Amino acid sequence: MQKSKVDVILGIQWGDEGKGKIVDVLASGYDIVARFQGGPNAGHTIKFGGMTHVLHTIPSGIFHEGKVNVIGNGVLIDACIVCEEIENLRKAGIEARDRMVISDKANLILPTHRLLDAALEQKKGSKKIGSTVKGIGPAYTDKVARCGLRMGDVFASSFQGKYEALKADHLLQLKNLGFDLEAARIDGKTLAEYEKAWMSGIEELRSFQVLPTEIYLNRALAEGKTVLAEGAQGSLLDVDFGSYPFVTSSSTVTAGVCVGLGVPPSAIGKVYGVFKAYCTRVGSGPFPTELHDATGEELRAKGHEFGATTGRPRRTGWLDLPALRYTLMINGITDLVVMKADVMDEFDTVKVAVGYTLDGKKMEYYPTTEQAERVVPEYKELPGWKSSIGQARRYEELPAAFRSYLDFICQETGSQIKVVSVGPDREETIIRGE
Ligand code: IMP
Repeated sequence: MQKSKVDVILGIQWGDEGKGKIVDVLASGYDIVARFQGGPNAGHTIKFGGMTHVLHTIPSGIFHEGKVNVIGNGVLIDACIVCEEIENLRKAGIEARDRMVISDKANLILPTHRLLDAALEQKKGSKKIGSTVKGIGPAYTDKVARCGLRMGDVFASSFQGKYEALKADHLLQLKNLGFDLEAARIDGKTLAEYEKAWMSGIEELRSFQVLPTEIYLNRALAEGKTVLAEGAQGSLLDVDFGSYPFVTSSSTVTAGVCVGLGVPPSAIGKVYGVFKAYCTRVGSGPFPTELHDATGEELRAKGHEFGATTGRPRRTGWLDLPALRYTLMINGITDLVVMKADVMDEFDTVKVAVGYTLDGKKMEYYPTTEQAERVVPEYKELPGWKSSIGQARRYEELPAAFRSYLDFICQETGSQIKVVSVGPDREETIIRGE
């Protein structure tokens, strides 16, 4: 029986909400921080002490001494990328090996998964998903097809043989897709070069604690230790509830915590839903409130809306409350966390979508992917706060017009805002009730 709970931090839009910062801020109140899905398609940016750190696979609690960071069974690991993260942390004076455990059931992204991702995207042409091309789709496909390689496999003498067999299968698939293997590069490297770096990455990972983290976590909960589960991507990119097929290949919602860490639903405590005061999306797929004008440009420029993993410019638009209501419902959000409202500090007015119409009729339920391409958002225009919120450290110090804007969101979603981020730094955060 658990004596404590797993609290969850999730993105409730299309990813890039700023979850990494919030995990880092809240991590001090927990014993363990655990990633439960996704892989190096994620880019979690954390700023403190004049430094910026970007993590892709490693949980964002890694900067806190005395905390254990878990890479759960639901996560995908690219040995090259995770070792680059480990090396960057080492340069910053942090030895990840001392603060991290890895699930023996976490699946590996092989170099050829990366190539397959690129080949499959290429084949889709104009219907491409806009994948980060980190091998996520093909690696989860192999996991579900029961032919993937897992972290636990790297210790067995059969590992090399299994690797070669899976690689041979991938090469055949690539050949059938007409993929030009000679010309292909993975992060600037040929397949042979990337494979060499990947194998040394595997060697390094063998020195880490690789264990059944589901047992580790359940024991910790029974002992009263607290766990913070860190989501990647966002609920609108969830493989079931996102705008399929323009989604990622994992369960990014609260239910994903149970399968991605092996903890029972009864262990879930608070669920923090992180959202930006406006919307962004990278890659293809419907985006009802998207802006194609100067305001959209302004949001992109002021919000530095370029991918932390790919550098791609993000699509931008107004806050979408019907979408938030949907993701609040799926996730059972208990507390909202609002990010990057400071980007709109100078706006005269701020728009928020409060509903959608389709073919002239008000939509009563959240649209399908096809409908979402055609819905017309109904907007409410609210006064801007026309002042900088960045210096506020207590909720009461925030401008009245901004607080009215937040009240409006709470009223429309029936939820409460617990955390207000007023800038990118760890310090620029207001936690209500503290
Ligand atoms: P994949 O997960 O790399 O296959 O990409 C599938 C879709 O999810 C694409 O539209 C990506 O741009 C998007 N995506 C994947 N990871 C992230 C993320 O961490 N932030 C935002 N979008 C993401």
